[in-house]
Amino acid sequence: MIIFDRKKELNAFTLEKRKKDCTIGLVPTMGALHSGHISLVKKALSENDLVVVSIFVNPTQFDKKDDLEKYPRTFEQDIDLLKKVSNNIVVFAPAVDEIYESNVKSASYDFDGLDKVMEGEFRTGHFDGVGTIVELLLKTVSPDKAYFGEKDFQQLQIIRKMVETKNLPYTIVGCPIEREPHGLAMSSRNERLSKNTREQAGFIHATLQAAKAKFGTNSVLEIKDWVKYEFENHPLFDLEYFEIADEDTLTPALKILDNQKYRAFIAVYAEGVRLIDNLRLN
Ligand code: PAF
Repeated sequence: MIIFDRKKELNAFTLEKRKKDCTIGLVPTMGALHSGHISLVKKALSENDLVVVSIFVNPTQFDKKDDLEKYPRTFEQDIDLLKKVSNNIVVFAPAVDEIYESNVKSASYDFDGLDKVMEGEFRTGHFDGVGTIVELLLKTVSPDKAYFGEKDFQQLQIIRKMVETKNLPYTIVGCPIEREPHGLAMSSRNERLSKNTREQAGFIHATLQAAKAKFGTNSVLEIKDWVKYEFENHPLFDLEYFEIADEDTLTPALKILDNQKYRAFIAVYAEGVRLIDNLRLN
């Protein structure tokens, strides 16, 4: 398996492949790969001749130093896992200097308000950091398609917006959330939970499902109050936000309108680990 750590070399490699009519899929990751990532890689392999998996813990998208430091890093394991999946994968694993040189700062983006709610409200600068690294990866790899998980649904919509606004020639593909047996959305951060909390964390998805069952018969406010109450009474999880928002604009819903698609979004702390999830409501 080829592992690149230089932008220039990867770019030269992918341009050469493109000249030979090879289609390329990009799967950006921050490593600590799990079956959620592997499902993205498999989807990318099924639609392209070659898949580039980037592994880079991007410092500019972390608003908390502690979260960045504790982010799991399992490079050797990640490579072993990818080797088992296919020979048509190359890895891009740059150092921070290679991406940011001496200036570890994000560019600033206009995401048309998509970044002002939920994750954007609670994680200052997060989406500028995501935009910066994803734009750089897209331009370095020049993929036909890039694959992102719907667990970070707001991120997915923001990347779609960036590609549309900047008129970039890449197709962004959203892929369904993979879940652990108890329902917890797969995430590299789950590694930091104790076994018991990890099992109990199915509660988050179960609450979203119960909110979905109430959607249509209860008002948005009633559902939000009910979710708050459920978390206030749970010993393990602290609710940061629960929101019902329009799927395209991410505008929090006050009233449910016909012909609009809505999604429930949630962020929760468990043992100091931040977990997010979402579920389509209609
Ligand atoms: O979703 C992630 O893991 C990251 O935000 C991404 C897209 C790899 C950018 O660093």
